[in-house]
Amino acid sequence: MTITTTPLNPHFGVAVEGVALSDVSTGEGYPEIRALFEEHSALLFRRQEITDAQHMALATLFGPIEDRKADERKPGQAFEIPKVSNVKDDGSTTAEMDHHTLHLKANFLWHCDSTFMPQPALTNLLIARVVTETGGATELASTRAGWAAMPEALKKRIRGRGVWHAYRHSRAKISPELAAQAMFNKWPDQHWNAIWTNPVNGREALYLASHSFKVDGYDEAESQALIDEMIGFCTRPEYVYSHQWQVGDVLIWDQRAVLHRGTPWPYDKPRTLSSICVSARPVDGLDALARIGETA
Ligand code: OGA
Ligand code: MN
Repeated sequence: MTITTTPLNPHFGVAVEGVALSDVSTGEGYPEIRALFEEHSALLFRRQEITDAQHMALATLFGPIEDRKADERKPGQAFEIPKVSNVKDDGSTTAEMDHHTLHLKANFLWHCDSTFMPQPALTNLLIARVVTETGGATELASTRAGWAAMPEALKKRIRGRGVWHAYRHSRAKISPELAAQAMFNKWPDQHWNAIWTNPVNGREALYLASHSFKVDGYDEAESQALIDEMIGFCTRPEYVYSHQWQVGDVLIWDQRAVLHRGTPWPYDKPRTLSSICVSARPVDGLDALARIGETA
């Protein structure tokens, strides 16, 4: 394998060429890909031919596959790769105001995946299966670059503090009825350090999301204003990469250092991405994230 890279944005992200993701294994390709992941935070592999089984195998190289529906599955029922999709089982698309579409719309708020779970996500490996001609881009923003560029006076307001996260909080911004559903209330509120320090290279990144609702030491209104200001800073256009999908494109990003969001598309047009999240572990810096007040 001769791997070459091209920047996606001056601050982060690379397109990776010379790799067939279907052939990557622990010894072949993964060490190089993991090093690029730690360094650049977001990797794009264009036009891959990759089956569901190969997608699973690739994800497993990064760590344990996240399974949000473990409690819903009946004995013997197999894990299914989660789909970000507006296509129903009968092939029709979901209506604009139904709960499924509203849930997709909540993805249009800047977020990291699974900050509301006891084991948040390290990465999402997203593959385009069905794409639209217009709209439906996925956007990424570097909270490593954003944090590094942030004025010290703003940094000071959150450094060393813990932040609370809940799934229902991001859904309530779209629809209170949606937020009340059981699937958005499964996990206890999570409390994480506002900064995630990468244990490989020591780089800090702001760790906030649409799911964040309370910063230690501030009331909820002050917290939301601070969270919005900080996310706003990190998602200024110069820190954003917007990806217009083609079938087979694979995006793999570091949830510890990148915010992402979907963007609207005509809802009568089918759009399906396969999404496997991998859970973060102590080796990824999770233990330190759970210890509040230690980021100097
Ligand atoms: C996700 C996500 C956005 C999109 O898969 O976690 O937020 O563009 N997707 O569909
Ligand atoms: Mn997401």
